[in-house]
Amino acid sequence: RVRLAVVGGGSTYTPELVDGFARLRDALPLEELVLIDPATERLELIGRLARRIFARQGHPGRVTWTDDLDAGVDGADAVLLQLRVGGQAARNQDETWPLDCGCVGQETTGAGGLAKALRTVPVVLGIAERVRRRNPDAWIVDFTNPVGIVTRALLTHGHKAVGLCNVAIGFQRKFAALLGVAPDQVELDHIGLNHLTWERAVRVGGEDVLPKLLTEHGEAVAEDLRMPRPLLDRLGVIPSYYLRYYYRHDEVVRELRSKPSRAAEVAAIEKRLLDLYADPALDEKPELLGRRGGAFYSEAAVALTSSLLGDTGDIQIVNTLNRGTLPFLPDDAVIEAPATVGAEGATPLPVRPLEPLFAGLVANVTAYEHLALEAALVGCRGSGRREGGRNAGREGGRSAAREGGRSAAREGGRNAVFAALLAHPLIGQSDYADRLTDELIAHNREHLTWA
Ligand code: G6P
Ligand code: MN
Repeated sequence: RVRLAVVGGGSTYTPELVDGFARLRDALPLEELVLIDPATERLELIGRLARRIFARQGHPGRVTWTDDLDAGVDGADAVLLQLRVGGQAARNQDETWPLDCGCVGQETTGAGGLAKALRTVPVVLGIAERVRRRNPDAWIVDFTNPVGIVTRALLTHGHKAVGLCNVAIGFQRKFAALLGVAPDQVELDHIGLNHLTWERAVRVGGEDVLPKLLTEHGEAVAEDLRMPRPLLDRLGVIPSYYLRYYYRHDEVVRELRSKPSRAAEVAAIEKRLLDLYADPALDEKPELLGRRGGAFYSEAAVALTSSLLGDTGDIQIVNTLNRGTLPFLPDDAVIEAPATVGAEGATPLPVRPLEPLFAGLVANVTAYEHLALEAALVGCRGSGRREGGRNAGREGGRSAAREGGRSAAREGGRNAVFAALLAHPLIGQSDYADRLTDELIAHNREHLTWA
């Protein structure tokens, strides 16, 4: 009997999760699902719908909700993180200002992804610290983006955490459907970093059917990824759709400039979803939720949580410390790869050498993620935000020393942001990195303690 807490439980995504928990209750028998969110009105709306979904599917578990993080995680076996600092409004910024420099505007990739990391890492570390104080045994399952950087932050701070994304499980389901087999028959040789992965083999019954998949269904796969079919044939692997931001960067920028942001689109969907959720007759996840990107994340969450708690030692694709798996990366880099999952957490399986075509990008983005985390941690030093941050600077007394300290902190923060942007393969030029640094700071000042 499992007690599970969801931080960000008031998300419009939550019914997807709850639907999965209800359907897959044999794999993960929930005694209580605790939804935690500071947005109490929305939380209650989502909480009531979650109860109706459980009731309709005859799930015996309780659904409760609270805006009190400490109380909510008390006694939880696992804590799922699915929060979004600044909401869709902040995401809209991330997707917009990088375009002025001709760079992709995306919530996890490029300069927008860095902005999201800077807003998110201090908050997530603060939450993880509180979870650990209250409940040191609980597992943290992180869905909060950018998952690679956030998971690296959690693991390098000694938290019991695993990062999760739905890209791999999405491919597994997609390929299974194309091949006409059950999803659990399909085994992926999936490797890289979160949102920077390739499927190098697709095994069914031990046989690699990737060549066959490309021959017979290459058109469908390419269309889905919005990449040219011949590119897939030449690569000989299937890149995740996030690779489009690299392989087709300028094309994506042109496209993004010509239409409303994904954040705006999502905000409109969310508005309609909330209207639907308010209907007391609704007791299942609505079809409209399928227009969001999170398909199957409940399945991935159930599988991971039940393996962590049940110490199963089965193989799942997760985000965890490299520890020599990709020998050209530092041990404390976080990779996304097949790993055995059990009570000790996730341990990546050995991986055959990564081809230079992919290894180069992985090494480059890993260096960026390292620098991104350093920049994000500038916001955690001294008076960490949220906790100490509120009192810091309130004592008045503007001594010269204090002013000097502030401008040094500002300088340090700015330099760290600049370095991360300069290291990013989609930016790389110093004048762009400079402009984007200014934009990032200007748009995120309220989230940056040093700015
Ligand atoms: C995919 C990614 C997630 C991301 C989501 C965005 O599921 O793996 O990391 O959060 O897409 O979907 P949205 O509907 O918010 O654009
Ligand atoms: Mn993801």
